[in-house]
Amino acid sequence: MLLSSLLSIAVFSILALANLQHEIDPRIKTALAMGQGSTGASTTPDGRLFLILPHVDGSHGNRIVEVIDKGCNGSDPKLVGFPDENWNSWNASTDNSIDAGVKYVSPNAQRIGPDGKLWVVDSGIPDQYQNSSKLISFNLETNKVDRIYYLGKITTGAGLLNDVRFNGKFAYLTEYTIGSIIVLDLENGHARMVLRKHTSTIAHFPDSADGKFLISSSTGKPQYIHADDLEVSPDGKYFYYQPGSGYMWRIETKYLNDALYNNTAAGLLHMYTEPYSPTPATGGTAIDAAGNIYYSDVDRHEIRYVSPNQTTTLLTRDSRLEWVDAMWVDSEQRLWMCASQLNRGDRFIQPNNQTYSITKPVYIYTIDVDHGPSPIDHS
Ligand SMILES: *[C@@H]1O[C@H](CO)[C@@H](O)[C@H](O)[C@H]1NC(C)=O
Ligand SMILES: *[C@@H]1O[C@H](CO)[C@@H](O)[C@H](O)[C@H]1NC(C)=O
Ligand SMILES: *[C@@H]1O[C@H](CO)[C@@H](O)[C@H](O)[C@H]1NC(C)=O
Ligand SMILES: *[C@@H]1O[C@H](CO)[C@@H](O)[C@H](O)[C@H]1NC(C)=O
Ligand SMILES: *[C@@H]1O[C@H](CO)[C@@H](O)[C@H](O)[C@H]1NC(C)=O
Ligand SMILES: *[C@@H]1O[C@H](CO)[C@@H](O)[C@H](O)[C@H]1NC(C)=O
Repeated sequence: MLLSSLLSIAVFSILALANLQHEIDPRIKTALAMGQGSTGASTTPDGRLFLILPHVDGSHGNRIVEVIDKGCNGSDPKLVGFPDENWNSWNASTDNSIDAGVKYVSPNAQRIGPDGKLWVVDSGIPDQYQNSSKLISFNLETNKVDRIYYLGKITTGAGLLNDVRFNGKFAYLTEYTIGSIIVLDLENGHARMVLRKHTSTIAHFPDSADGKFLISSSTGKPQYIHADDLEVSPDGKYFYYQPGSGYMWRIETKYLNDALYNNTAAGLLHMYTEPYSPTPATGGTAIDAAGNIYYSDVDRHEIRYVSPNQTTTLLTRDSRLEWVDAMWVDSEQRLWMCASQLNRGDRFIQPNNQTYSITKPVYIYTIDVDHGPSPIDHS
Protein backbone atom coordinates (compact mmCIF):
# COMPACT_ATOMS: atom_id res chain seq x y z
CA MET A 1 0.00 0.00 0.00
CA LEU A 2 1.24 3.51 -0.81
CA LEU A 3 2.44 5.58 2.11
CA SER A 4 -0.07 8.34 1.27
CA SER A 5 -3.00 5.86 1.57
CA LEU A 6 -1.65 4.63 4.90
CA LEU A 7 -1.44 8.20 6.11
CA SER A 8 -4.96 9.01 5.02
CA ILE A 9 -6.26 5.89 6.79
CA ALA A 10 -4.47 6.94 9.97
CA VAL A 11 -5.93 10.45 9.78
CA PHE A 12 -9.38 9.04 9.09
CA SER A 13 -9.19 6.74 12.14
CA ILE A 14 -8.25 9.59 14.44
CA LEU A 15 -11.11 11.68 13.07
CA ALA A 16 -13.55 8.79 13.55
CA LEU A 17 -12.52 8.47 17.22
CA ALA A 18 -12.79 12.21 17.72
CA ASN A 19 -16.28 12.18 16.19
CA LEU A 20 -17.38 9.42 18.56
CA GLN A 21 -16.49 11.62 21.51
CA HIS A 22 -18.69 14.48 20.31
CA GLU A 23 -21.44 12.72 18.46
CA ILE A 24 -24.74 14.61 18.50
CA ASP A 25 -28.05 13.23 17.25
CA PRO A 26 -30.20 16.25 16.25
CA ARG A 27 -33.39 14.23 16.84
CA ILE A 28 -32.72 14.33 20.59
CA LYS A 29 -34.55 17.18 22.36
CA THR A 30 -33.87 18.62 25.80
CA ALA A 31 -36.88 18.25 28.10
CA LEU A 32 -35.28 19.54 31.31
CA ALA A 33 -31.95 21.01 32.36
CA MET A 34 -31.61 20.12 36.02
CA GLY A 35 -29.45 21.22 38.94
CA GLN A 36 -29.11 17.54 39.92
CA GLY A 37 -29.56 14.21 38.13
CA SER A 38 -32.69 12.09 37.89
CA THR A 39 -32.78 8.32 37.45
CA GLY A 40 -36.28 8.17 36.00
CA ALA A 41 -39.19 10.24 34.68
CA SER A 42 -42.82 9.21 34.32
CA THR A 43 -45.73 11.09 32.83
CA THR A 44 -49.53 10.98 32.80
CA PRO A 45 -51.49 11.48 29.56
CA ASP A 46 -52.81 14.77 30.97
CA GLY A 47 -49.29 16.14 31.31
CA ARG A 48 -48.13 15.53 34.89
CA LEU A 49 -44.43 14.71 35.20
CA PHE A 50 -42.73 12.94 38.11
CA LEU A 51 -39.03 12.32 38.76
CA ILE A 52 -36.88 10.34 41.16
CA LEU A 53 -33.73 12.07 42.42
CA PRO A 54 -30.88 9.73 43.50
CA HIS A 55 -28.84 12.35 45.42
CA VAL A 56 -25.40 11.18 44.30
CA ASP A 57 -23.87 14.68 44.12
CA GLY A 58 -24.33 15.78 47.74
CA SER A 59 -27.91 16.93 47.04
CA HIS A 60 -30.44 16.47 49.81
CA GLY A 61 -34.12 17.13 50.27
CA ASN A 62 -36.91 15.66 48.15
CA ARG A 63 -36.45 12.24 46.54
CA ILE A 64 -39.73 11.89 44.62
CA VAL A 65 -40.87 15.11 42.97
CA GLU A 66 -43.49 16.47 40.64
CA VAL A 67 -42.29 18.99 38.05
CA ILE A 68 -44.50 22.07 38.42
CA ASP A 69 -42.62 24.23 35.92
CA LYS A 70 -40.17 22.85 33.40
CA GLY A 71 -38.08 26.07 33.40
CA CYS A 72 -36.50 27.52 30.29
CA ASN A 73 -33.49 29.55 29.07
CA GLY A 74 -31.28 28.12 31.79
CA SER A 75 -33.68 28.65 34.69
CA ASP A 76 -34.03 25.61 36.96
CA PRO A 77 -37.23 23.61 36.72
CA LYS A 78 -39.53 24.00 39.71
CA LEU A 79 -39.90 20.72 41.60
CA VAL A 80 -42.12 19.94 44.59
CA GLY A 81 -41.90 16.90 46.86
CA PHE A 82 -44.54 14.28 46.11
CA PRO A 83 -46.92 13.60 47.74
CA ASP A 84 -45.63 16.01 50.41
CA GLU A 85 -42.59 17.08 52.39
CA ASN A 86 -43.20 14.51 55.13
CA TRP A 87 -42.85 11.49 52.86
CA ASN A 88 -39.60 13.06 51.67
CA SER A 89 -38.27 13.91 55.13
CA TRP A 90 -36.49 10.69 56.21
CA ASN A 91 -33.58 11.49 58.55
CA ALA A 92 -31.69 8.46 59.90
CA SER A 93 -30.50 10.31 62.98
CA THR A 94 -33.94 11.36 64.21
CA ASP A 95 -36.50 8.98 62.61
CA ASN A 96 -37.57 5.59 63.99
CA SER A 97 -38.89 2.29 62.67
CA ILE A 98 -42.46 3.60 62.48
CA ASP A 99 -41.29 6.54 60.33
CA ALA A 100 -39.41 4.02 58.14
CA GLY A 101 -42.78 2.54 57.15
CA VAL A 102 -44.36 5.84 56.08
CA LYS A 103 -41.46 7.80 54.53
CA TYR A 104 -39.16 7.21 51.57
CA VAL A 105 -36.02 5.76 53.15
CA SER A 106 -34.08 4.82 50.02
CA PRO A 107 -36.40 5.05 47.00
CA ASN A 108 -35.00 3.41 43.87
CA ALA A 109 -37.79 3.63 41.28
CA GLN A 110 -41.06 5.41 40.50
CA ARG A 111 -43.57 4.96 37.71
CA ILE A 112 -47.21 5.51 36.79
CA GLY A 113 -48.92 2.12 36.68
CA PRO A 114 -51.63 0.87 34.30
CA ASP A 115 -54.12 1.91 37.01
CA GLY A 116 -53.02 5.57 36.69
CA LYS A 117 -51.48 5.55 40.18
CA LEU A 118 -47.92 6.61 40.98
CA TRP A 119 -45.92 3.63 42.30
CA VAL A 120 -42.70 4.01 44.26
CA VAL A 121 -40.23 1.21 45.05
CA ASP A 122 -38.39 1.89 48.31
CA SER A 123 -35.32 -0.34 48.81
CA GLY A 124 -35.12 1.02 52.34
CA ILE A 125 -32.53 -0.18 54.85
CA PRO A 126 -34.18 -3.54 55.48
CA ASP A 127 -31.47 -4.89 57.81
CA GLN A 128 -32.27 -2.02 60.20
CA TYR A 129 -35.92 -1.23 59.49
CA GLN A 130 -38.00 -4.09 58.15
CA ASN A 131 -40.86 -1.85 57.00
CA SER A 132 -38.56 0.42 55.01
CA SER A 133 -38.57 -2.25 52.24
CA LYS A 134 -41.82 -1.47 50.48
CA LEU A 135 -43.91 -0.77 47.40
CA ILE A 136 -46.22 2.24 47.68
CA SER A 137 -49.05 3.41 45.43
CA PHE A 138 -50.42 6.96 45.41
CA ASN A 139 -53.80 8.05 44.09
CA LEU A 140 -53.10 10.92 41.67
CA GLU A 141 -56.57 12.41 42.06
CA THR A 142 -56.14 12.95 45.80
CA ASN A 143 -52.30 12.89 45.91
CA LYS A 144 -52.63 10.57 48.92
CA VAL A 145 -51.30 7.09 49.74
CA ASP A 146 -53.45 4.39 48.24
CA ARG A 147 -51.69 1.31 49.59
CA ILE A 148 -48.36 0.20 51.04
CA TYR A 149 -47.03 -3.33 50.50
CA TYR A 150 -44.41 -4.09 53.15
CA LEU A 151 -41.89 -6.53 51.70
CA GLY A 152 -39.22 -6.66 54.42
CA LYS A 153 -40.13 -10.22 55.42
CA ILE A 154 -39.63 -11.28 51.81
CA THR A 155 -36.40 -9.36 51.17
CA THR A 156 -35.06 -10.79 54.47
CA GLY A 157 -32.77 -7.93 55.47
CA ALA A 158 -30.17 -8.62 52.76
CA GLY A 159 -32.25 -7.97 49.64
CA LEU A 160 -32.75 -4.52 48.16
CA LEU A 161 -35.76 -3.93 45.90
CA ASN A 162 -34.85 -2.39 42.56
CA ASP A 163 -37.90 -1.83 40.34
CA VAL A 164 -41.44 -3.05 39.56
CA ARG A 165 -43.68 -4.01 36.61
CA PHE A 166 -47.34 -5.03 36.48
CA ASN A 167 -49.40 -7.82 34.95
CA GLY A 168 -53.05 -7.63 36.02
CA LYS A 169 -53.28 -8.51 39.70
CA PHE A 170 -49.60 -9.49 39.80
CA ALA A 171 -46.58 -7.27 40.29
CA TYR A 172 -43.00 -8.43 39.70
CA LEU A 173 -40.04 -6.78 41.39
CA THR A 174 -36.32 -7.20 40.84
CA GLU A 175 -34.11 -7.47 43.94
CA TYR A 176 -30.49 -6.66 43.26
CA THR A 177 -28.28 -7.43 46.25
CA ILE A 178 -29.07 -11.12 46.71
CA GLY A 179 -30.28 -11.54 43.12
CA SER A 180 -33.94 -12.61 42.83
CA ILE A 181 -37.42 -11.83 41.53
CA ILE A 182 -40.30 -11.07 43.88
CA VAL A 183 -43.82 -11.97 42.78
CA LEU A 184 -46.58 -10.04 44.53
CA ASP A 185 -50.35 -10.49 44.52
CA LEU A 186 -51.60 -6.90 44.52
CA GLU A 187 -55.03 -7.92 45.80
CA ASN A 188 -54.00 -9.59 49.05
CA GLY A 189 -50.34 -8.55 49.44
CA HIS A 190 -49.01 -12.12 49.41
CA ALA A 191 -45.45 -12.17 48.02
CA ARG A 192 -42.67 -14.66 47.36
CA MET A 193 -39.00 -14.44 46.42
CA VAL A 194 -38.18 -16.74 43.48
CA LEU A 195 -35.14 -17.59 41.29
CA ARG A 196 -32.96 -16.66 44.29
CA LYS A 197 -29.31 -16.53 43.16
CA HIS A 198 -30.27 -18.32 39.94
CA THR A 199 -27.82 -17.83 37.08
CA SER A 200 -30.39 -15.52 35.41
CA THR A 201 -30.77 -13.21 38.42
CA ILE A 202 -27.05 -12.92 39.21
CA ALA A 203 -24.61 -10.45 37.62
CA HIS A 204 -21.68 -12.47 36.31
CA PHE A 205 -19.67 -9.31 35.70
CA PRO A 206 -19.37 -5.98 37.53
CA ASP A 207 -21.31 -3.01 36.22
CA SER A 208 -19.46 -0.72 33.83
CA ALA A 209 -19.79 2.67 32.16
CA ASP A 210 -17.65 4.39 29.52
CA GLY A 211 -15.78 1.09 29.12
CA LYS A 212 -14.60 0.90 32.74
CA PHE A 213 -15.80 -1.13 35.71
CA LEU A 214 -17.56 0.83 38.44
CA ILE A 215 -15.75 0.64 41.79
CA SER A 216 -17.99 0.98 44.82
CA SER A 217 -16.96 3.86 47.04
CA SER A 218 -18.19 1.99 50.15
CA THR A 219 -16.31 -1.29 49.54
CA GLY A 220 -13.52 -0.22 47.15
CA LYS A 221 -14.42 -3.25 45.02
CA PRO A 222 -16.05 -3.64 41.59
CA GLN A 223 -19.81 -3.13 41.91
CA TYR A 224 -22.07 -6.06 40.97
CA ILE A 225 -25.76 -5.25 40.44
CA HIS A 226 -27.88 -8.40 40.31
CA ALA A 227 -31.51 -8.56 39.02
CA ASP A 228 -32.20 -4.99 37.90
CA ASP A 229 -33.99 -4.15 34.63
CA LEU A 230 -37.36 -5.75 33.90
CA GLU A 231 -40.31 -5.54 31.49
CA VAL A 232 -43.56 -7.41 30.78
CA SER A 233 -44.64 -8.06 27.17
CA PRO A 234 -47.75 -6.13 26.05
CA ASP A 235 -49.76 -9.39 25.92
CA GLY A 236 -48.67 -10.27 29.48
CA LYS A 237 -47.11 -13.54 28.30
CA TYR A 238 -43.45 -12.87 29.08
CA PHE A 239 -41.45 -11.35 31.89
CA TYR A 240 -38.01 -10.04 30.81
CA TYR A 241 -35.21 -9.34 33.27
CA GLN A 242 -31.46 -8.82 33.49
CA PRO A 243 -28.69 -7.87 35.89
CA GLY A 244 -27.05 -4.43 35.58
CA SER A 245 -24.16 -5.89 33.58
CA GLY A 246 -26.53 -7.24 30.94
CA TYR A 247 -27.66 -10.46 29.24
CA MET A 248 -31.43 -10.38 29.20
CA TRP A 249 -33.54 -13.40 30.16
CA ARG A 250 -37.21 -14.11 29.90
CA ILE A 251 -39.71 -16.47 31.50
CA GLU A 252 -43.41 -16.99 30.82
CA THR A 253 -45.39 -15.08 33.45
CA LYS A 254 -47.72 -18.04 34.02
CA TYR A 255 -44.85 -19.90 35.70
CA LEU A 256 -44.07 -16.92 37.96
CA ASN A 257 -47.74 -16.58 38.87
CA ASP A 258 -48.09 -20.31 39.63
CA ALA A 259 -44.98 -20.15 41.83
CA LEU A 260 -46.58 -17.59 44.15
CA TYR A 261 -48.89 -20.17 45.76
CA ASN A 262 -47.28 -23.48 44.80
CA ASN A 263 -43.99 -24.68 46.34
CA THR A 264 -43.47 -27.35 43.68
CA ALA A 265 -43.96 -24.81 40.88
CA ALA A 266 -41.54 -22.40 42.62
CA GLY A 267 -38.90 -25.14 42.78
CA LEU A 268 -39.26 -25.84 39.06
CA LEU A 269 -39.08 -22.20 37.85
CA HIS A 270 -35.43 -22.40 36.77
CA MET A 271 -36.46 -24.87 34.05
CA TYR A 272 -38.47 -22.18 32.29
CA THR A 273 -35.86 -19.40 32.16
CA GLU A 274 -34.63 -18.65 28.62
CA PRO A 275 -31.80 -16.41 27.38
CA TYR A 276 -33.50 -13.61 25.42
CA SER A 277 -30.94 -11.04 24.23
CA PRO A 278 -27.16 -10.49 24.64
CA THR A 279 -27.60 -6.99 26.06
CA PRO A 280 -24.64 -5.01 27.51
CA ALA A 281 -24.35 -3.09 30.79
CA THR A 282 -27.57 -1.12 30.96
CA GLY A 283 -28.79 1.82 33.04
CA GLY A 284 -32.46 1.25 32.31
CA THR A 285 -35.13 -0.03 29.94
CA ALA A 286 -38.64 0.75 28.67
CA ILE A 287 -41.12 -1.22 26.55
CA ASP A 288 -43.53 0.14 23.91
CA ALA A 289 -46.93 -1.00 22.63
CA ALA A 290 -45.27 -3.16 19.93
CA GLY A 291 -43.19 -4.98 22.55
CA ASN A 292 -39.88 -3.35 21.60
CA ILE A 293 -37.61 -3.21 24.66
CA TYR A 294 -35.41 -0.09 24.65
CA TYR A 295 -32.23 -0.23 26.68
CA SER A 296 -29.35 2.17 27.27
CA ASP A 297 -25.80 1.01 26.57
CA VAL A 298 -23.86 2.97 29.18
CA ASP A 299 -20.45 2.04 27.76
CA ARG A 300 -21.21 3.29 24.24
CA HIS A 301 -23.79 6.05 24.94
CA GLU A 302 -26.36 4.32 22.77
CA ILE A 303 -30.02 3.41 22.99
CA ARG A 304 -30.98 0.19 21.22
CA TYR A 305 -34.16 -1.86 21.16
CA VAL A 306 -34.87 -5.57 21.04
CA SER A 307 -37.93 -6.38 18.91
CA PRO A 308 -40.20 -9.33 19.76
CA ASN A 309 -38.45 -11.35 17.00
CA GLN A 310 -35.22 -10.88 19.01
CA THR A 311 -33.46 -8.63 16.51
CA THR A 312 -31.63 -5.60 17.94
CA THR A 313 -31.71 -2.16 16.32
CA LEU A 314 -29.69 0.96 17.13
CA LEU A 315 -32.05 3.86 17.92
CA THR A 316 -29.47 6.54 18.65
CA ARG A 317 -25.87 7.18 19.66
CA ASP A 318 -25.03 10.49 21.28
CA SER A 319 -22.14 11.46 23.51
CA ARG A 320 -24.58 13.31 25.82
CA LEU A 321 -26.30 10.06 26.82
CA GLU A 322 -24.27 9.66 30.04
CA TRP A 323 -25.77 6.81 32.03
CA VAL A 324 -29.36 6.92 30.81
CA ASP A 325 -31.21 5.23 33.67
CA ALA A 326 -34.89 4.14 33.72
CA MET A 327 -36.61 5.18 30.47
CA TRP A 328 -40.26 5.94 29.76
CA VAL A 329 -42.48 5.91 26.65
CA ASP A 330 -45.16 8.61 26.84
CA SER A 331 -48.56 8.91 25.15
CA GLU A 332 -47.04 11.31 22.57
CA GLN A 333 -44.70 8.53 21.38
CA ARG A 334 -41.61 10.04 22.93
CA LEU A 335 -38.93 8.06 24.74
CA TRP A 336 -37.75 9.88 27.88
CA MET A 337 -34.04 9.50 28.63
CA CYS A 338 -32.64 10.79 31.92
CA ALA A 339 -28.90 11.16 31.26
CA SER A 340 -28.29 10.79 35.00
CA GLN A 341 -24.47 10.50 35.05
CA LEU A 342 -25.02 8.03 37.90
CA ASN A 343 -21.59 6.51 37.20
CA ARG A 344 -20.05 9.91 38.04
CA GLY A 345 -21.83 10.13 41.40
CA ASP A 346 -20.62 9.46 44.92
CA ARG A 347 -21.57 5.77 44.94
CA PHE A 348 -18.51 5.02 42.80
CA ILE A 349 -14.85 5.97 43.04
CA GLN A 350 -14.12 8.99 40.84
CA PRO A 351 -10.91 10.19 39.19
CA ASN A 352 -8.53 12.16 41.47
CA ASN A 353 -10.48 11.17 44.58
CA GLN A 354 -13.29 13.58 43.79
CA THR A 355 -16.50 12.76 45.65
CA TYR A 356 -18.39 13.06 42.37
CA SER A 357 -17.58 14.26 38.87
CA ILE A 358 -21.05 15.12 37.56
CA THR A 359 -21.17 18.02 35.11
CA LYS A 360 -24.14 20.37 35.42
CA PRO A 361 -26.76 20.96 34.31
CA VAL A 362 -27.83 17.33 34.20
CA TYR A 363 -30.15 16.79 31.26
CA ILE A 364 -33.34 14.89 30.63
CA TYR A 365 -33.90 14.26 26.92
CA THR A 366 -36.62 12.87 24.70
CA ILE A 367 -36.55 11.30 21.26
CA ASP A 368 -39.53 10.42 19.08
CA VAL A 369 -40.22 6.72 18.63
CA ASP A 370 -43.03 5.42 16.45
CA HIS A 371 -44.91 3.74 19.27
CA GLY A 372 -46.85 4.71 22.37
CA PRO A 373 -46.76 2.95 25.73
CA SER A 374 -47.74 -0.66 26.28
CA PRO A 375 -51.20 -0.47 27.94
CA ILE A 376 -50.30 -3.26 30.39
CA ASP A 377 -47.53 -0.89 31.59
CA HIS A 378 -49.21 2.53 31.60
CA SER A 379 -51.34 4.87 29.48
C1 LIG B 1 -35.99 32.41 26.05
O1 LIG B 1 -34.97 32.91 25.20
C2 LIG B 1 -35.40 33.20 23.87
C3 LIG B 1 -34.19 33.57 23.04
O2 LIG B 1 -33.35 34.45 23.76
C4 LIG B 1 -36.46 34.29 23.93
O3 LIG B 1 -36.93 34.57 22.62
C5 LIG B 1 -37.62 33.83 24.81
O4 LIG B 1 -38.55 34.89 24.95
C6 LIG B 1 -37.13 33.43 26.19
N1 LIG B 1 -38.24 32.84 26.93
C7 LIG B 1 -38.50 33.19 28.20
C8 LIG B 1 -39.71 32.55 28.81
O5 LIG B 1 -37.82 33.98 28.82
C1 LIG C 1 -31.12 15.18 60.57
O1 LIG C 1 -31.37 15.51 61.90
C2 LIG C 1 -30.24 16.04 62.60
C3 LIG C 1 -30.61 16.21 64.08
O2 LIG C 1 -31.77 17.01 64.21
C4 LIG C 1 -29.84 17.34 61.94
O3 LIG C 1 -28.67 17.87 62.57
C5 LIG C 1 -29.54 17.08 60.47
O4 LIG C 1 -29.26 18.30 59.81
C6 LIG C 1 -30.71 16.41 59.79
N1 LIG C 1 -30.32 16.03 58.45
C7 LIG C 1 -30.96 16.45 57.38
C8 LIG C 1 -30.45 15.98 56.07
O5 LIG C 1 -31.95 17.19 57.44
C1 LIG D 1 -44.59 -2.95 59.96
O1 LIG D 1 -45.77 -3.03 59.21
C2 LIG D 1 -46.69 -3.99 59.71
C3 LIG D 1 -47.82 -4.08 58.70
O2 LIG D 1 -48.46 -2.84 58.58
C4 LIG D 1 -47.16 -3.57 61.10
O3 LIG D 1 -48.02 -4.53 61.63
C5 LIG D 1 -45.92 -3.42 61.99
O4 LIG D 1 -46.33 -2.91 63.24
C6 LIG D 1 -44.91 -2.49 61.37
N1 LIG D 1 -43.71 -2.49 62.16
C7 LIG D 1 -43.13 -1.37 62.59
C8 LIG D 1 -41.87 -1.53 63.37
O5 LIG D 1 -43.59 -0.25 62.36
C1 LIG E 1 -48.25 -27.17 41.67
O1 LIG E 1 -47.31 -27.16 40.60
C2 LIG E 1 -46.99 -28.44 40.13
C3 LIG E 1 -45.86 -28.27 39.10
O2 LIG E 1 -46.26 -27.38 38.08
C4 LIG E 1 -48.22 -29.09 39.54
O3 LIG E 1 -47.91 -30.38 39.06
C5 LIG E 1 -49.30 -29.18 40.61
O4 LIG E 1 -50.50 -29.65 40.04
C6 LIG E 1 -49.55 -27.80 41.22
N1 LIG E 1 -50.45 -27.93 42.35
C7 LIG E 1 -51.59 -27.26 42.42
C8 LIG E 1 -52.39 -27.48 43.68
O5 LIG E 1 -51.98 -26.52 41.53
C1 LIG F 1 -37.84 -8.20 13.26
O1 LIG F 1 -38.71 -7.15 13.66
C2 LIG F 1 -38.29 -5.88 13.24
C3 LIG F 1 -39.19 -4.85 13.90
O2 LIG F 1 -40.54 -5.16 13.64
C4 LIG F 1 -38.30 -5.82 11.71
O3 LIG F 1 -37.85 -4.55 11.27
C5 LIG F 1 -37.36 -6.90 11.17
O4 LIG F 1 -37.47 -6.93 9.77
C6 LIG F 1 -37.71 -8.26 11.74
N1 LIG F 1 -36.65 -9.17 11.35
C7 LIG F 1 -36.88 -10.42 10.99
C8 LIG F 1 -35.68 -11.23 10.64
O5 LIG F 1 -38.01 -10.90 10.95
C1 LIG G 1 -6.75 9.15 47.01
O1 LIG G 1 -6.92 9.02 48.43
C2 LIG G 1 -6.18 7.97 48.98
C3 LIG G 1 -6.55 7.84 50.46
O2 LIG G 1 -6.72 9.10 51.05
C4 LIG G 1 -4.69 8.24 48.78
O3 LIG G 1 -3.92 7.17 49.30
C5 LIG G 1 -4.41 8.37 47.28
O4 LIG G 1 -3.08 8.73 47.04
C6 LIG G 1 -5.35 9.42 46.65
N1 LIG G 1 -5.18 9.38 45.19
C7 LIG G 1 -5.14 10.48 44.44
C8 LIG G 1 -5.01 10.26 42.96
O5 LIG G 1 -5.19 11.60 44.92
